[in-house]
Amino acid sequence: MASESIHPASAPSRRVVVAAVGAAGLALTLNACGSEDDSSSSSSSSSSDTAAGGSVLAKTSDIPEGGGKIFKDSGVVVTQPTAGEFKAFSSKCTHQGCAVTGITNGVITCPCHKSEFSVTDGSVKKGPATQPLPEEKITVSGDSISLA
Ligand code: FES
Repeated sequence: MASESIHPASAPSRRVVVAAVGAAGLALTLNACGSEDDSSSSSSSSSSDTAAGGSVLAKTSDIPEGGGKIFKDSGVVVTQPTAGEFKAFSSKCTHQGCAVTGITNGVITCPCHKSEFSVTDGSVKKGPATQPLPEEKITVSGDSISLA
């Protein structure tokens, strides 16, 4: 009696193993399809990054002569030191990384510890910062200023 009950019990367990392997194989096939979809969607998002790099930041008429304008979202300050000459600098203060917030009398000012930077070349006019604001590349085309 005892030996008869062992055989029926072991047979179904083998079927379960085969079924599990079959399901795993199916899952692998589905995953392979899923990863192909991922790579195609990421390549399409990188093409939109390229478009964003060339987007217009401002009109030349937005930038006051002898001063400038801060573009917080882009992290840049665009200045016009002399008529028709445009420059751009990082808006991140080189002292402790605060965002600069003001431009008055030809200087870009940081609110945190009152460092001042020249609108002409980003150089330090007043500490505690000791390094100039890094220059950012821009292109001026007609009356549009874009980040290069
Ligand atoms: S972080 Fe700008 S002056 Fe200190």
